[in-house]
Amino acid sequence: MKIRYLTTLDSISESDLAEGFFEGWPDPPSYPNFIRLLHGSSHVVLAVEESSGKVVGFINALSDGVLSAYIPLLEVIPMYQGNGIGQELVRRMLELLNGHYMIDLMCDAELGGFYEKIGMHPSGGMILRNYKNQSGM
Ligand SMILES: CC(C)(COP(=O)(O)OP(=O)(O)OC[C@H]1O[C@@H](n2cnc3c(N)ncnc32)[C@H](O)[C@@H]1OP(=O)(O)O)[C@@H](O)C(=O)NCCC(=O)NCCS
Repeated sequence: MKIRYLTTLDSISESDLAEGFFEGWPDPPSYPNFIRLLHGSSHVVLAVEESSGKVVGFINALSDGVLSAYIPLLEVIPMYQGNGIGQELVRRMLELLNGHYMIDLMCDAELGGFYEKIGMHPSGGMILRNYKNQSGM
């Protein structure tokens, strides 16, 4: 399997996104909303599988352009997990965000080790989830 990584959406449309993202979400965003949220991000890294041309993994970030960036989403579709794509997406995103003072994300405790491997460390956080909006505004 050969993966190439993109940091722009110039050549990407909805039909380039593989099936299977937002696994386990009760009310996932539609793919038009998926494309919209990528375009609304300040930074994206996409993992594209060379032979199919499909996006099989992505990470996005929202930056204020001065101090802070937040990483809301990281996902590799199940068939491609366990091949180092997730780590590479994070590594490339941290490279893009180099220069920011704060780079934050929220994750389940069992993923702590995954992010620690790449230099992040645990902290506290507060969240609010409006489940009625889970599929997008
Ligand atoms: C988390 C996720 C992006 C990892 O992607 P991936 O391509 O499978 O990850 P990698 O192959 O780069 O894994 C690298 C390492 O992290 C570990 N790891 C991967 N997923 C993990 C998980 N869910 N929990 C704990 N460790 C995990 C792997 O065991 C591997 O460790 P190793 O190098 O010691 O073998 C992927 O499992 C996923 O999309 N999950 C669903 C969405 C999600 O949870 N996103 C994160 C939101 S904070």
